[in-house]
Amino acid sequence: MPRAIISPSVLASDFGQLTAECKRMVKGGAEWLHMDVMDGHFVPNITMGAPILSCVHKGVPGIFMDCHMMVSNPEQWVNDIADAGGALYCFHLEATDDPLPLIDAIHAKGMKAGVAISPDTPSTAITDTIAHAADMLLVMTVYPGRGGQKFLERCVPKVAELRLRFPDKDIEVDGGVGPKTIDVCADAGSNVIVAGTAIFNAPNPEEVISGLKASVNR
Ligand code: DX5
Ligand code: ZN
Repeated sequence: MPRAIISPSVLASDFGQLTAECKRMVKGGAEWLHMDVMDGHFVPNITMGAPILSCVHKGVPGIFMDCHMMVSNPEQWVNDIADAGGALYCFHLEATDDPLPLIDAIHAKGMKAGVAISPDTPSTAITDTIAHAADMLLVMTVYPGRGGQKFLERCVPKVAELRLRFPDKDIEVDGGVGPKTIDVCADAGSNVIVAGTAIFNAPNPEEVISGLKASVNR
């Protein structure tokens, strides 16, 4: 299995202190930051876009921004997110009819490409061709739209199905993941772990980050 990566979801941070919050995560051992971009259309909420990502990129030098694009028209934002310093552009398979040219466009802008599936989308929607073209697959373990939701364990078998088909691919889980739910995700084969409230609200984020990592590396 590829190496363990913990990607704290900035959605759970105090946006008034965004850069300081991001630095707090880096200090706690985070290598990636998960940036939840919502457009108020694919999901009901609006969060942040390229201008804010650009501030984080400048304020937290060298940070790998894992951009989770919960947007209806993912083709529209590739250039802006790349210019803002996005390192990985993960779009929802439900939001496009043509994932392969989109993956090419993301790569052409020098970013890694991720493909996300929501709870009601089966793992088979990710065809072999799509998975091989992408750098990361994201299995949502909540309905996209907001942080702090309850982990949906019924999504976990999709992680196992994808791990079986793609032994070397980065597979991310996102939603309701924390110390209590990490083990089933790791056992199923997920190696990229997103956690928002579980890390940001913890008295000691460093401890949570290292605990999540240890669980993947068991
Ligand atoms: C949900 C977002 C998640 C969320 C995770 O739509 O994609 O990244 O912020 O937050 P927690 O870990 O609190 O469920
Ligand atoms: Zn997310």
